[in-house]
Amino acid sequence: MGLSTAYHLSKRNIRTVVLEQFTFFNQLGSSAGVSRQFRIPYPEAYMVKLAKQSEPFWEELQSLTPVLLRDKVGTLWFGDPSVHSTEGNIAEAEKALTAQNVPFTKLTATEIEREYHFTNLPSTYIGLFQPDGASIDLKATIQTLYDWNRASPMVTLVENAPATRIINANGKFEVATPQGTFVSEKLVLVPGPYANSVFHLLDFHIEATYWNMASAFYKKTTPDIQYPTWFVFQNPVGNNGNEFYGFPEVSWNYHGYIRVASDFVMKPLTSPEQRTLIPNPQELGYTAEWVKDHMTGLDPTPHFASVCLVALSKIPNKELLIDFAPASVPNNKNIVIYATGWAGKFVPLLGEILAELAVDGHTRFDISHFATGSTYFKSIQRATV
Ligand code: BEZ
Repeated sequence: MGLSTAYHLSKRNIRTVVLEQFTFFNQLGSSAGVSRQFRIPYPEAYMVKLAKQSEPFWEELQSLTPVLLRDKVGTLWFGDPSVHSTEGNIAEAEKALTAQNVPFTKLTATEIEREYHFTNLPSTYIGLFQPDGASIDLKATIQTLYDWNRASPMVTLVENAPATRIINANGKFEVATPQGTFVSEKLVLVPGPYANSVFHLLDFHIEATYWNMASAFYKKTTPDIQYPTWFVFQNPVGNNGNEFYGFPEVSWNYHGYIRVASDFVMKPLTSPEQRTLIPNPQELGYTAEWVKDHMTGLDPTPHFASVCLVALSKIPNKELLIDFAPASVPNNKNIVIYATGWAGKFVPLLGEILAELAVDGHTRFDISHFATGSTYFKSIQRATV
């Protein structure tokens, strides 16, 4: 998000410093891993609209690199039509897609099995296929933004630079880091799951829960079958989780394997410090079981397992938080924040939105649904600043 914001600011000839607390390309935040799903289906029409609006920004980024950033294999959403989950509900997504004139095909359980290689699905399952869905090459996306910013005379990239103090002095911000203090007229704060460690420096925080999400790769035993990007909605059976999602075989990672993951965690975390880099074996086990029971052409032994940390807003129906800092923070209209949610698919567009908010004080895109409102909380005043 930071690299994308700097990209858009540099196009407007605005000098930008990107402070990265770890190193660029690190695997410790929400940009860990190699792939993300680009999808248009959402249960809310405004999210469908935003996903559509992000497409020209993806195409612009694509024009900067010969590497394919989105492999358009389509999105398959399927499962129990009565299930409402963190990703929504199939029937609601149908309504939202129709309202936004997005093409899709409706499928029965038999059609899902016949066309997309799944098996043993309950006959009540339904599905929808939306052809614009894609598997995002996340590494190449970050690389493209990084390379642009490295080459731009307007952008300075600084790694190992966690903000340790932010002082508002004479209408400017002084951000102290182990690499020195940086002075700026505006701040865009996009620390991913580490949001509160930066927001605390300004005496506020957001309420979030943290998922250390596990995924693994499964070896193809039938080389010529290809899965779309997919997501299955199900009720949990006992304690064994309910939702899974997966990707096609992609050219940029573990050729001959496909990635499948659980969209649940056995135990949410209350802070990023609690996470480990070890995938939860039960989450991997339930996923492997689902692969064995419902997918064809794969060996159900998980390989190359990894984790990715995401912060999820505790406020219902507010997946993304995009706003200015709360009014309690001096000079708050010069501080733009983005936090929480699954926003890999929005990276090129959110960079533009955050740049517009920082420079113009408003954006041409509808972000009213992401306003923080009462979702900010005042942190206990620190003894020293
Ligand atoms: C998403 O498309 O937002 C998403 C897909 C799978 C898991 C979590 C989020």
